[in-house]
Formats: sequence, structure tokens, C-alpha cells
Amino acid sequence: MDLISEPAPNVRQLLAFYLEAGVDCALMEEPVDRLTEPDTPAPPIAVRETAPSRPVREMPAAMPAVPRSEIAPAPEAAIALAREAARTAPTLEALRALLETFEGCALRNTATRLVFADGNPQARVMFVGEAPGRDEDIEGLPFVGRSGKLLDRMIAAIGLDRSKAYIANVIPWRPPGNRTPTPQETQICLPFIQRQIELVNPDILVTLGNPSTQTLLSTRDGIMKTRGRWFDYDTGTRTIRAMATFHPAYLLRSPSYKRMSWQDLRAIAKALEQAN
Ligand code: URA
Repeated sequence: MDLISEPAPNVRQLLAFYLEAGVDCALMEEPVDRLTEPDTPAPPIAVRETAPSRPVREMPAAMPAVPRSEIAPAPEAAIALAREAARTAPTLEALRALLETFEGCALRNTATRLVFADGNPQARVMFVGEAPGRDEDIEGLPFVGRSGKLLDRMIAAIGLDRSKAYIANVIPWRPPGNRTPTPQETQICLPFIQRQIELVNPDILVTLGNPSTQTLLSTRDGIMKTRGRWFDYDTGTRTIRAMATFHPAYLLRSPSYKRMSWQDLRAIAKALEQAN
């Protein structure tokens, strides 16, 4: 393809491209017209020379300072920080409050708000997805978009609703453009969801989709192999029965798997009856 002779995209095509790439929300209340801003020369970059005789050049005063709160610690330090913090949260409220101020995960800087949980903390069954999407980021609640509507129907199929189930995600902030969370982001958020599961202490834990299943149930098998299988989830104080099933977003794309998901839900309903 001759890229040089391609006509420049018009604004509509450019917007469609951005939308496709996941850029679907504004970062500020008011739009900024960069074209009307005067050109400012790029500031010189601080250069640290290896030879000790050469001094380090200073950043010019005009360089905008990055707020301390937007500098995330190194992943290992953040994971250690998360483990320590999550361990000390005595209640779900304390855990939520902790996450509201936790600065170890950079996703909080791009997300609109924390998406902690929905449903009943006393519920006997807890569903865990991967990470909030756009609708969840706006509302601050998990699974409220299209896949959330399907999850509600799945829960209703076994006679439950959000007043009888607890719903959360491994990652409590929306990754920008709904991109896949990085392994570091997942590891940083893991102690918090682990503590959340321990505090809710459900009879049955349901992991929705591959990322949540692999992260929480410590398996490398894919969802086609793990779904419908019972796992033991060890909270550290107790073992909880856990079942992996398809993520509702996957079922929306591949409705033929709804039949298998129905089998998984029946198994969950039966286990709930038995544990009664
Ligand atoms: N997908 C998820 O994994 N979680 C949500 O909250 C919404 C969509």
C-alpha cells in the first residue's frame, strides 16, 4: 500500500479511529484547542552523564512538575505496599477506604473513580470479573454495562439478584481504553481482591473469564479447560469452593457457549443448595 499517496483522514475518520482504539472519553471538562496555543519549544531533557566530571543539567523551571500523587512506585515496591495495606484492612469499608487513597497503581490516575463492588457483602456467592469498563468507570459499580446486564440474567437464572450476590473485579480501576491490565497492575491489585474475598467469605466464589480465573485460581489453563470445574480457593484462613465460568462479555460475542455457561450455573445452584 502506498501510504504517501493516501489522502489525509477527515475529522470523522480520525474520531472513528480514536474510538476504535479505545479513546472514548474526555480527560477534562472543557476541550482544549491545541491549534490555538502558541508554539512552545520543547524543554531540554535532563541528561545524566556517566562521567562524574560532567554535571547533571537542570530541568528548566518551566517544566511542569508531575504531582507526587501521579508518580507510582516501582512495581515490586507497590506489590509489597499493597500486600501490607490489604492485610491490615479489618473490614470491607476499611478496604475500600484504603483503595481510595492507595497510590501504588497508576490505573487510578486515568480512571474516573474506584469500582469497588456491588451487591450484598453477606451473600453466599461472589462473582469476580477482570476490570471495569467504560460504564462501570462512570457509575463506580461493577458490571453495569452490556455484559453486566447479561450477568444479571445469569444470576437470575439461578434465582438470585444483586441483593443475594456480591460482585467485584480483580482490578478496581478501568484500564485506559479498556486495554488488558499489565501483569504488574494485576499483581499490585491482587492482594486487595484476595482480602475482599476473605472478608466477604462466600460459600462459593465464581471467577468470570480467563484473566480472573488464572489470577485467582493460580492456573495457567485456559477457560475452555477450567470452566465448569471446581477449584479450592484458599483464603489463608479457610478453603472456599470456586467455579470458573465464561465471562458475560465473551458470551455476548459467542452466544453458542451460553449452553455451557448454563450448565456451570446449574452446578453453582446445586452446590449452594447442598451447602445450605
Ligand atoms: N467486565 C468486567 O470484567 N468487569 C466489569 O465490571 C465490567 C466488565
